[in-house]
Amino acid sequence: MKYIPRRAGIGVSVLVLLCLASMASAGMAQRPRHQPPAPAYPWMKANLSPDQRAALVLKEMTLDEKIAMIHGVGMPTDDPLTPENALSNRGVGYSAGVPRLGIPGIDMSDAAYGVRSSGVNGRYSTALPANVAAAASWDTDAAFEYGALIGRELRAQGFNMSLGGGVDITREPRNGRTFEYLGEDPVLAGTLVGRLIEGTQSAHVIGDIKHYAFNDQESGRTSVNVNISKRAARESDLLAFEIGVAQGHPAAVMCSYNRVNGDFSCENNNLLNEVLKKDWKFPGFVISDWGGTHSTEKASAAGLDNEEPGNFFYGAPFKAAVQSGKIPMTELDDHVRRILRSMFAAGVIDYPRQRSVVDPFAGMEIARKIEESGIVLLKNERATLPLNAAKLHTIAVIGSHSDVGMISGGGSAQVDPIGGNAIMPPGKGATHWQEEIWFPTSPLKAIQARAPQAQVKYDPGTDPASAAAAAKGADVAIVFAYVWESEGEDLPDLSLPHHQDNVIAAVAAANPHTIVVLETGSPVTMPWVKAPAAILEAWYGGSDGANAVGNVLFGTVNPSGKLPNTFPLSEADLPHPTITMPPPESEHFASPASPDQWAKGLPPFQVTYDEGVKVGYKWYDAEKKPVLFPFGFGLSYTSYKYSALQVTPGQTVKVTFTLANTGARAGAEIAEVYASLPAAAQEPPKRLVGFSKVKLDAREKKTVTVEIDPKYLSIFDEAKDGWTLLPGDYTIMIGGSSQELPLKATISLK
Ligand code: BGC
Repeated sequence: MKYIPRRAGIGVSVLVLLCLASMASAGMAQRPRHQPPAPAYPWMKANLSPDQRAALVLKEMTLDEKIAMIHGVGMPTDDPLTPENALSNRGVGYSAGVPRLGIPGIDMSDAAYGVRSSGVNGRYSTALPANVAAAASWDTDAAFEYGALIGRELRAQGFNMSLGGGVDITREPRNGRTFEYLGEDPVLAGTLVGRLIEGTQSAHVIGDIKHYAFNDQESGRTSVNVNISKRAARESDLLAFEIGVAQGHPAAVMCSYNRVNGDFSCENNNLLNEVLKKDWKFPGFVISDWGGTHSTEKASAAGLDNEEPGNFFYGAPFKAAVQSGKIPMTELDDHVRRILRSMFAAGVIDYPRQRSVVDPFAGMEIARKIEESGIVLLKNERATLPLNAAKLHTIAVIGSHSDVGMISGGGSAQVDPIGGNAIMPPGKGATHWQEEIWFPTSPLKAIQARAPQAQVKYDPGTDPASAAAAAKGADVAIVFAYVWESEGEDLPDLSLPHHQDNVIAAVAAANPHTIVVLETGSPVTMPWVKAPAAILEAWYGGSDGANAVGNVLFGTVNPSGKLPNTFPLSEADLPHPTITMPPPESEHFASPASPDQWAKGLPPFQVTYDEGVKVGYKWYDAEKKPVLFPFGFGLSYTSYKYSALQVTPGQTVKVTFTLANTGARAGAEIAEVYASLPAAAQEPPKRLVGFSKVKLDAREKKTVTVEIDPKYLSIFDEAKDGWTLLPGDYTIMIGGSSQELPLKATISLK
């Protein structure tokens, strides 16, 4: 059980019990055999729909087989001898199949920005840049590629289900999982997660969207009760899921740890049955977050289909409840049917998993390209960037272990670095829960390679005076600054830790050609913002982050990313200046915990999202608060001009305009389309309703068309329990940042 300390966030001792209980009753002796699909089975006829095929299998299944399919068997990752995951590289969850009917088990791995923790078994995988970096690319093709790479590598490692697809919107930027999510806007995040899931499922791997819903802070995540109005919920966090589900067709939805309006998400009838299954017509299955199940009858009736990772509630107690009539067989059948139909729909039955060798070097190129399109140029005075290598004799590279590596995001998203943690001695590279992991991708080497004649010196950036001395007199000083974040804890604030503010200020005072490169998952405050000549946000750059940063610094790549999250001036400007922390009794289970305790859950503490729909830029707009860098902002080495707007109302509102690259360098501009609704809607001043990333050669011009989904112009009407497009005047605004929208037109909709 060596994983136990790493799971502190979800009630460690309970997971021990979960695993032991699971292993005891799951029948450890039953080694699932890999059975190639037998065409003789009637459900193997590919011309039948997934639902028809599922119905045929279901008819043949015994009660025990059904029960085995709706829960996990423990955490295979932690026990190399667990037979269930013998076909894979050992993931975090496994639900039994029905070998006699040719139905494989579901073998799950975390896969937020790559396949998790595979290094421990000697099988490395590609670390893509953090999800937030992919969001900063605003590139739907890149999102597909991102998911597809994960899908391929999961398959290669013997898995047939991904636990990626995080899309909780950044309502609380100090959330320790901000790097795993796709920003603060539901249209951007939902569209991108949909494409990412499509990509993953294109590799015949079951895709997942998570954590449904409102797991917007890590502090007290298993006990917090989130209070939010129905309208605000539907127009904000839930809209991201709605779009992701509609566009990405994920086979699975993972319900979250927290409570929402009184009930745990995984037994929340409104979230699971009413919204997800009835309103959105989600045909797939709901899987609990790890240890997020708290009941049998209530959860089942509310729409939870699968308990992970164990079987506290969905094993023997479920069987007993069916036998005693407390849970109708039809309800159990619905859970099983959803799981089966999703397996057919995702192709895991028609295309059985087949292990092969991951080629991390091929993956690196994809990772680098996505990082290149997600890096955001925040400041560039006197055209400091791109650097001209021919003119540089001395370069000071400072801080953040930039001599050897770049930081990555932690928790269940953690991907093992190829070759181990860059700051640990060789051979000690295994990753540990809640530990900073540095990918061995060296900015120093990338910079030296691009300026071979220059003398490049390194200073660790731990002492402002020494850093300033290193910077003084260099032709350019490049300071790397980082914030590590991880699942299981939130950031205390948005400032750079380890006195990095002082280091940057000292370096910038010593050298007018100072460039700051940020490696963060969340927005950061910058008391020094005026001092450096240039600032780049590089996020967590993945396996080949250093080359991507090098290419942007030296202009091989023209930056084109834009912020998916607002950078506020200070925490005081956030809707909640401080994070509500759990009281001690809601923080941890006393040890050893009992199943009863788990069933009850920790006493709730309340977090009320009274800012409602005003998340991110909608909050700053509505409250008229100036920000450091606005949502959708990002500079380029060229310039763009917007003109000739035409807005045509119809079934969908069609927006057409001309976008010109007015500079001498090719680039890609993200054109953002916002709308302000009629006053009667009582909405924040504007909302994103569409976007398009447009590649333009030097001096090239293109006509761009964006179609606006009517839902994005609508409000959620609580009385009607549905979306309504109000009659009235809508102003459509277009430009390259939420605060720079040169094109405007008002249309009247009836
Ligand atoms: C996380 C999930 C993850 C699961 C399995 C949980 O603690 O919240 O995102 O998929 O563990 O590792």
